[in-house]
Amino acid sequence: MRTKVFGFHRIVLLPLVALLCALPALGSSSDSSQRTVGKLGKVAIIGTGDLGDSLGPRFAQLGYQVIYGSRNPASDSAKALVAHTGNGASAASQREAAQSADLVVLAVGWPVMRTVAQNLGSLDGKIVIDISTAAEQGEDGYFTSVVETSAAELIQDWNPGAKVVKAFAVQASYVVDDPTVMEGPISVPIAADDRNAKEVVARIVAGMGMDPFDAGPLRYSREIEAFARLYMVPILQRRQAAWEPYFRRSYFWECAWGDDWSDPVADAKNLATMPNNQGPAKPCPGL
Ligand SMILES: NC(=O)c1ccc[n+]([C@@H]2O[C@H](COP(=O)([O-])OP(=O)(O)OC[C@H]3O[C@@H](n4cnc5c(N)ncnc54)[C@H](OP(=O)(O)O)[C@@H]3O)[C@@H](O)[C@H]2O)c1
Repeated sequence: MRTKVFGFHRIVLLPLVALLCALPALGSSSDSSQRTVGKLGKVAIIGTGDLGDSLGPRFAQLGYQVIYGSRNPASDSAKALVAHTGNGASAASQREAAQSADLVVLAVGWPVMRTVAQNLGSLDGKIVIDISTAAEQGEDGYFTSVVETSAAELIQDWNPGAKVVKAFAVQASYVVDDPTVMEGPISVPIAADDRNAKEVVARIVAGMGMDPFDAGPLRYSREIEAFARLYMVPILQRRQAAWEPYFRRSYFWECAWGDDWSDPVADAKNLATMPNNQGPAKPCPGL
């Protein structure tokens, strides 16, 4: 259940360990976006709706300066969100916000995504997080994809110089507010073609107290969006119990199979380093 206080989701401060987890986000690199973001720079949250107003305060807790991109940056609700976010937060037009940040979160719904994502100015070199799912209800009420590829790939096509990362697309906003409400890890699949961008986002996810999962290249956004449609099934069915994603770690497959059953993936020697929130690898289970 979503809890709102003064119009916002209730924010529960996470333990210091979560913050410490995010701080190393980011090593040294000649890459400018990573360098700035690695210094806990500015993040633009485009859209001040349900997930935007959850992610913004969580970024601020990690030390980022948040600038909201809104159609109405001077509205009372935007001002209240800025005040609630703290840490030097501000609000501006969507374009101005995107241009002033190195990390941009597109927190708008799919129906307006094309217009928004094509009108933010150059996003070259910026990490752009896509949280959307390009879907609508079909005749039977269940969601169906409305694109041949995925929202994230289209956003990448529209902004070829951006480093698009798919993340935060499956879990609900109340979990972003406070992942501890689920009393267990919340898995956040992350797909991206740019290794550094994926690592930056993975550390942010871990810093927020969730469990990043390397979901492969950006084209795997299709699978993430399929997962998001799956997530919606019990909600659309109006069932009492819905689900939040929780992938349990398994050390079985590495033990059971050798290398010869499949071709190596193209980035096998360049896999993103993912924060491990659940301790060291365990020995092989009894085989
Ligand atoms: N809510 C969740 O729990 C959740 C979970 C996972 C993924 N997502 C994804 O997150 C995205 C946002 O979802 P949401 O629930 O936050 O939606 P929302 O509450 O409807 O907020 C979307 C925001 O987009 C902006 N917007 C609306 N119409 C616009 C337009 N015509 N042009 C430009 N901007 C416009 C508005 O911000 P301003 O008024 O400030 O302009 C609005 O508050 C969606 O793609 C959704 O699939 C949501």
